[in-house]
Amino acid sequence: MRIINGKEIADQLKNEMAAEVERLRSERGRAPHLAAILVGNDPASETYVKNKEKSCHEVGISSSVYRMPENTTEEQLLEAIDFINNDDEIDGLIVQLPLPKGLDADKVVSRIAPEKDVDGFHPINVGRMVLGQPSYLPATPMGIMLLLERSGIPTEGTRCVVVGRSNIVGTPVSILLSRNLKNANCTVTLCHSRTQNLAAVCRTADILIVAIGKCEMITGEYVKEGATVIDVGIHRVPDATKKSGYALKGDVKYDDVAGRCEFITPVPGGVGPMTIVGLLRNTLSAFKGEIYPSR
Ligand code: GUN
Repeated sequence: MRIINGKEIADQLKNEMAAEVERLRSERGRAPHLAAILVGNDPASETYVKNKEKSCHEVGISSSVYRMPENTTEEQLLEAIDFINNDDEIDGLIVQLPLPKGLDADKVVSRIAPEKDVDGFHPINVGRMVLGQPSYLPATPMGIMLLLERSGIPTEGTRCVVVGRSNIVGTPVSILLSRNLKNANCTVTLCHSRTQNLAAVCRTADILIVAIGKCEMITGEYVKEGATVIDVGIHRVPDATKKSGYALKGDVKYDDVAGRCEFITPVPGGVGPMTIVGLLRNTLSAFKGEIYPSR
């Protein structure tokens, strides 16, 4: 069994990016700039946004966070998005999700200029991604593809089972893995809450990707001997032995599953750090005008 060290792979990729960012900054007179809008006080969102700022800083990307109160109206939020859309010195914009009740995430995300939508959540970017046209790939699916590639895990012709059909992870990663591309070409099955005999379906997987949002749901009986297991889940569970008072667990029951795997991602330190790499790559790509060249 080999542990896929997402932190180490992410650090390598960030180092590579830092060199490119520095070269571009000296050529163009400014660094790429990522803006995030954070509405309300969700503690998990606060942590995610802080981590994004820290990672931007590490690679030399400028970042700014626009904090708006919990009772922000949709009109005020849309106005803030328009303001950033019109700022020529901001390359990427994300609105941290989930939004407080009463704000329509679909409407809000659709207001982001597609060329600045570095989360890849705008319907235009999702459509382009599905059609295989140039697009910002959503960060977590991109991170998973990079993890598989950098770990030298063969994908071509393999059976891949994805558990969870969210718009952010399960659905897009299933599309990317089924693509006719060198680091894809999997035969993909997308499972969800209504899938019958889920454990038996999962046991057919050479590559099992779990993004179902249920703490430690995937036990040894879901995993074929020699499989690769990618765990996207992250849950805080109370743990008195930890200084913080909690431990982080995934959707996979690690101790039960690890012994059966050829490769497995830990939580924390697996997929999480790679998600941020995906976002940074998209921001750099926006700065370079790779997806929408007219900028
Ligand atoms: N909330 C959880 N994951 C994400 C993400 O990738 N982007 C945004 N904007 N919000 C999130």
